[in-house]
Amino acid sequence: MWDGGVFDMDLQPVVPITNPVEMDETVENVLNKLRNTAPYPAMFKKAFGTEEITTARMMKALSQFMVMLVSDQSKYDSVMRKQGVTFTQEEQQGYTLFQQKCSSCHKEPLFTDQSFRNNGIGTGPNNDEGRYPVTLNTDDKYKFKVPSLRNLAYTAPYMHDGRMYTLNAVFNHYSSEVQDMATLDPLLRQNGVLGIPLSANDKQYLLAFLNTLNDRHFITDKRFSEESQ
Ligand code: HEC
Repeated sequence: MWDGGVFDMDLQPVVPITNPVEMDETVENVLNKLRNTAPYPAMFKKAFGTEEITTARMMKALSQFMVMLVSDQSKYDSVMRKQGVTFTQEEQQGYTLFQQKCSSCHKEPLFTDQSFRNNGIGTGPNNDEGRYPVTLNTDDKYKFKVPSLRNLAYTAPYMHDGRMYTLNAVFNHYSSEVQDMATLDPLLRQNGVLGIPLSANDKQYLLAFLNTLNDRHFITDKRFSEESQ
C-alpha cells in the first residue's frame, strides 16, 4: 500500500475487500460467493486438490496471481539487456536527465528505492497523512511509498490520491509547485531552492524517456486476461 501498512502479500487483499471505500465486503461473504459461483469450486479443485474454498486458499490464489505480474519487456528493458535496440537521441537525453534528477528516489530497475518520502505535493482534499498513521512517528507525516514509474501510459491519474492527470502536470509539480513542509524530502529543497529545475526541453526529453518504460507486451499478456480462463 502507499502507506506501507501491509507487510505480507497473502494478507493484502483483506484491505480492499473490507475497506468501506473500496469493496466494503466481508471475507466470509466473498468466500460464500465463490463457493456458489461456477467455475470457482472446480478451479480450486484443480489448484488445491479439493473444491474446498477457505480464506487461506483464496489469499494464496490471489497472491500467486499477483507475483506473476512482472513487467520486464519495455523498450528500456531491451536497451538494458542489449537486445539490439537503442534509445533515440531524445530518449537518451531524457535518460541522462532522469539519472541526474529523479533516480535518487525512483531507482532503477524498479524505479523505486522502496522508501517512503514526502515529494511536496502538499496535503490533498482527504488530508491523508500517509505513513504516519501506520508508524505514529511524526517524522513520517505525509510520506508515501516512492512508486514505480513503469507503465505510466496506462496508470493515470498519478500520485497516491490520483490528483494529477498528466505527466506534464507531474513535471510542472517538480519544477515549480513543490510545497515546503516540515517533512519535505531534503532532495527537493537543495541550497534553499524548492523543487527540481526543469526547462521545457527537459520535460520533453523526460517524457520521451518515461515512455520507454511502457510495456505493451505486459499489458496485453493473454495469461492475465479473463478470456484465458
Ligand atoms: C525525493 C524523492 C523523489 C524525487 C527526487 C522524485 N520523485 Fe517522483 N515521487 C516521489 C514520491 C514519494 C511519489 C509519490 C507521492 C504521493 O503519491 O504522495 C512520487 C510520484 C511520482 C509520480 C507518480 C507515479 C504514479 O504512479 O502515480 C511520477 C510520474 C513521478 N514521481 C516522476 C518523477 C520524476 C520525473 C522525477 C524527476 C524529475 C521525480 N519523480 C523525482 C518521490 C520522488
